[in-house]
Amino acid sequence: MKIAFFDSGIGGLSVLAEALRRFSGAEFLYFADEDHVPYGTKSRAEIVRLSLDAVGFLVSRGADAVVVACNTATSAAISELRGAFGVPVIGMEPAVKLAADSFGARPTLLIATPLTIAGEKLARLVGRLECETWSLPLPRLVEFAQDLEFDSPAVRTYLREELDKFELERLGSLVLGCTHFNYFKDVLREILPPYVRIIDGIDGTLNRLASELGGGLRLARGEDLPSRTTKFNAEDGVKFDTNLSVQAGKFGAEGRGAGGEQGAGGGNESCVGKNNAEGYGADGGKIYYPNGNSVEYFYSGRALDAAQLRKVEVFLKRLDAMREIN
Ligand code: DGL
Repeated sequence: MKIAFFDSGIGGLSVLAEALRRFSGAEFLYFADEDHVPYGTKSRAEIVRLSLDAVGFLVSRGADAVVVACNTATSAAISELRGAFGVPVIGMEPAVKLAADSFGARPTLLIATPLTIAGEKLARLVGRLECETWSLPLPRLVEFAQDLEFDSPAVRTYLREELDKFELERLGSLVLGCTHFNYFKDVLREILPPYVRIIDGIDGTLNRLASELGGGLRLARGEDLPSRTTKFNAEDGVKFDTNLSVQAGKFGAEGRGAGGEQGAGGGNESCVGKNNAEGYGADGGKIYYPNGNSVEYFYSGRALDAAQLRKVEVFLKRLDAMREIN
């Protein structure tokens, strides 16, 4: 079974990286629309067209299901994608409901692209919540990520200036409504008061993928659902209970030369798993990972060359360092 992930660029790698930890024996495809990134400042019609092209390409490469690992493309094009293709298409929405359910005694701040924030889908979602929800478009953060500028002084200044527009001390949580923002969790953590939780929508998306495909995906050894951020302790809206035992250290635990099982303990132990590639495939942009998983990478329909694949490893390493920051 081939599962495809699609994003405008490198943001969706955060969802893929989690899938590589969680599942085993899977063939993944990853499509970054590098020729057209960013999506968040384009028109809805343009994103519909680009998304149809991207998913069409992935289906032609044998995808049995497609995860739209992009909040912007989901907001603009999910119904068109579902109508156009005969495979399951799983979208990604800002986790404002999870934030409201867990920390709703205080306001939620959603950061996302301008298109996601202006979208009808978000208005409907937020309209159903009791929780006070503020939103902030951060288009430059997508550009910083694409330029591999993750924690520079310019990034810090931009984020401080933008976030200072809000009464941060009143917040319960910050929702990352754009997958590119997962690269900046450390800088965001520095700026926010310590009790404000940072919530991404990754686990919810993968839970949906797993349930949509029934038994089609095998869990990696020791994995179980639900995992990571699905468990919040809502008591007074500020405590956070990460049930990490099911996530700990599965990358690098199996396969040649990948090292021993790591961090298999339970409780609130931090995850030490690493997202190490096992080797480059002979056929262009394919990488083999522990747990018997592989990924074929494409930039707007072109298979990645060796130098580009090495860069992907840099992104995955950065994401690995960010994943337990909440
Ligand atoms: N990563 C995308 C998202 O989740 C959008 C970034 C872009 O503007 O291209 O919304």
